[in-house]
Amino acid sequence: MSISPTTQPSVLPLSGLIGAELPGIDLAAPLTDDVVAHIKTALTDHGVVVFRGQHIGPSEHVALARALGEIKYPPDYFPETLREQGFPEVGVISTDNQLAYMTDMWHADVTWMPNPPRYSILHMQQLPPAGGDTMWASQYAAYDWLSDPMKQFLEPLTVRHELPGFPDRGTVHPVVIRNPISGRKALFVNKVFSTRILELSKEESDALLAFLAVHTVRPEFICRVRWTPGDVGIWDNHYVQHYAVADYRPHARRIHRIEIVGEPTISAGA
Ligand code: SIN
Repeated sequence: MSISPTTQPSVLPLSGLIGAELPGIDLAAPLTDDVVAHIKTALTDHGVVVFRGQHIGPSEHVALARALGEIKYPPDYFPETLREQGFPEVGVISTDNQLAYMTDMWHADVTWMPNPPRYSILHMQQLPPAGGDTMWASQYAAYDWLSDPMKQFLEPLTVRHELPGFPDRGTVHPVVIRNPISGRKALFVNKVFSTRILELSKEESDALLAFLAVHTVRPEFICRVRWTPGDVGIWDNHYVQHYAVADYRPHARRIHRIEIVGEPTISAGA
């Protein structure tokens, strides 16, 4: 697909506040600069984009990832990759390797690092007969819907994120971050990795994190994708949380994922 100046590329919103399908793009074709710019703009505007029924393999998946940035390879301890097929950058999340049963929680990926992955790119491989949807929650909307006094209270605060069970693997992020491209502000707190708001007492921090865990994933902030074979989904991991709905046991589900290196988070006040 190429986009001429007179053609307005199509964007079909998936909900009122987050997500869009981008029809008319064949990811098996060489990616033009226009298409890549269209995808990046849609990610900035909608947080999540979905391409239906793509006939691609790992090499096109990798080409798409390279077009969006520098690939972040799965860590050594990742249970399964396509290394033996020549694609070590592709991680496999499946019921066979059990990872599919660890992603049914609201979270953003690897926020315990100073520069969490920026984009995550999924390619659906095997679907259960029903279920196995993925949900995403807009953290821009989560910020926008707060009252002004609450926004002012949260903006100077910082929060520690840790890999559960590994207190030496952690970092500190602003509670409210800013997208350097659009200037939009977003909450950057999630239930899996955020452990303590540093400027508050433990009791205050626990209470505030409990409120934010509920607030950040309000139904109004969510889109939900019912996958079809070959679908590709990309999200902006700095501004979106996700949850893989595990409602399909005992059936199998398998998805390939590539992540893109992210920049360090930027405080909303910086
Ligand atoms: C993930 O958490 O990256 C996996 C999402 C999914 O399997 O739908």
